[in-house]
Parts: sequence; structure tokens; C-alpha cells
Amino acid sequence: SRPSILVARAVFPEVIASLREHFEVETNGSDDTWTPAQFAERLQGKAGVLTSGAERIDTALLAACPSLRIVSNLAVGYNNFDVPAMTAAGVMGTNAPDVLTETTADFGMALLLATARRLTESEHFLRAGRWNKWGLDLFAGAEVNGSTLGILGMGRIGQAIAKRAAHGFDMPVIYHNRSRLDAATEAKLNARYVSKTELLQQADHLMLVLPYSAESHHAIGADEMAQMKPTATLINLARGGIVEENALVAALRERRIAAAGLDVFEGEPKINPDLLTVPNVVLTPHIASATLKTRRAMAQLAADNLIAYLTTGQALTPVNPGLPSPR
Ligand code: GLV
Ligand code: GLV
Repeated sequence: SRPSILVARAVFPEVIASLREHFEVETNGSDDTWTPAQFAERLQGKAGVLTSGAERIDTALLAACPSLRIVSNLAVGYNNFDVPAMTAAGVMGTNAPDVLTETTADFGMALLLATARRLTESEHFLRAGRWNKWGLDLFAGAEVNGSTLGILGMGRIGQAIAKRAAHGFDMPVIYHNRSRLDAATEAKLNARYVSKTELLQQADHLMLVLPYSAESHHAIGADEMAQMKPTATLINLARGGIVEENALVAALRERRIAAAGLDVFEGEPKINPDLLTVPNVVLTPHIASATLKTRRAMAQLAADNLIAYLTTGQALTPVNPGLPSPR
């Protein structure tokens, strides 16, 4: 008989249809999240699940769901996975990389430009009817072209941002990462490897595109912000937990850094209310990969991982490829 799977979020009908060609499919059909207990209940008898990135996959859940063989995340990030626990349980994990890289890099530039050039702040001013005269320094912001872009986390998305910055905006790029790019790639991206301290001290704009993990939790806190230029902007496209939000609010209020652009938040979709009171921050609801074309491609890749693994035993984009003993 055909395997049963669960789709934990509302997903495009054509993607559900492709899953129904292979599986019995139970869908959430909405974007309301289940509690861990409800989620485990729904997973009974299921061989696979398509998750959004919000559902925690840990030892307790794996023990409660012995039929589960694969969890396919509809996101490039998979900090909701306890990867060692999944590997130990023989459960495959997959993510949705590559198809979102260029779209997400576009958004990184949008958020950088909006933040440095005070786009939302100035629009609010205009909409509020407060624009009654032109002034030489009206919403004067920070220069983007030719300034130094710092990138923390130089994966595929970081490199796509560096390409735009170096070739579209004549920006020297400095970066810090666990591993260094090869010299040819560095030259192509006008990118120079630096220590984290140099990155903080030298960047005119600092872009966060690193994976979230125990090591990157609060990687940017009060000490790190104190090392940044008072004219610098901070852009977070990665995960909210990388930035200590209370320290950021204080730094923005006291103008110890100039501005921030945030697409991700520590308790999202709840927003730290203090952030809403700060004028020099641009806030967007985790939409960096949100074009219909890219979201469709991510959803199809997540579905294709389920189909490939449950029909052939090979996942397309595994995050624990060396799975020793598949269930
Ligand atoms: C979004 O944040 C993703 O990880 O794809
Ligand atoms: C992150 O995983 C990336 O693709 O940069």
C-alpha cells in the first residue's frame, strides 16, 4: 500500500497534487501551527512529513513517531531539526536550498538599501502629512555604493549578495565564515576574509546570513555592537536568535549603530514591542525568499525530497546524508 505523509502547512495545490500521485496525503490546509502533542498525534502512521521550519524535530518527537522515515523542511534553514537525534533514529532530514538563493540575495540588497536610505521611515513621515518643506539633509542616510559590506556567513546566499554588492554597487566585501572561499572565488566577489573582530570594526554595512545553531546564538550582542562603527547598519536575513534584540534596541536608541534592517525575530511571529518604538529600524515579516516563483520552487523541492526518498531511498538535498541505518 502507498505510504502516508503529512503536510504541516498550507501548500500550493499543484504541489499537493504531485504528492498525491505517490502517497496518501493528510494536510493541515492552514498556516496555524500545531502544538507538539497535536503534531505527534497527526504523525501516527506517517512515513514522511513536510514541515515549514517551525516544527521542532527532537528525540521526544522521534520516539513518539516510530513510523516516520523522513522530515522535509520547506526552508533552507533547518535549526528546527535535532540532526544527531534524527540520524540516531534513522530518520532522513532534507532542506530546500539553492532555489531560493538569488531571490533571497535580492531581498538582502532591498533591506540594505531600505535601511541605509531610510525608506520606510521617510515614507511614514510623508504618509503622516509631515512633509511641508524640502531640506538639504531631509532623511540623509548612509552611502551604499562604494562602502564596505561585511558578510557574516559566506554560504550560497552570502556569495549571491557579495556578487550583487561587488558588481552592482562597487562595494569592497569583507567576510567571516567557518571556512574560507578559494582565492579565485574571493577575487570574483571582490571579497577578503577577515576575523570576526575586523569584520565588526571595518564594515559600513553588516549582513547576517549564517545558519542558526547553538554556536551562532546571540553571535551579535552588546559587545559586538560596541565594536561596530556608529554609522554602520546591521541587516539580519538569517534567524532572529543570532541577534540579541534587547541589546540591539539599546544600540539603536543610543545611536551606537545607525540603523538595522530585520527580516527575522527571536520570538517570531511575536515582535519585541520595544523594536516597534525605534524609528531607525526596518522590519519585515520573514519574507526574504517570498516571490511566488521561488516559494513554488521551494515547495516543489520539499515535495520532491519526500517522493525521492520514499520511492528510491535517495533524498535530493539531505542534511544528514550519512544516515547509517534508515528506518
Ligand atoms: C527561510 O528562512 C529559510 O530558511 O528558507
Ligand atoms: C545557507 O544555507 C545558504 O544557502 O547560504
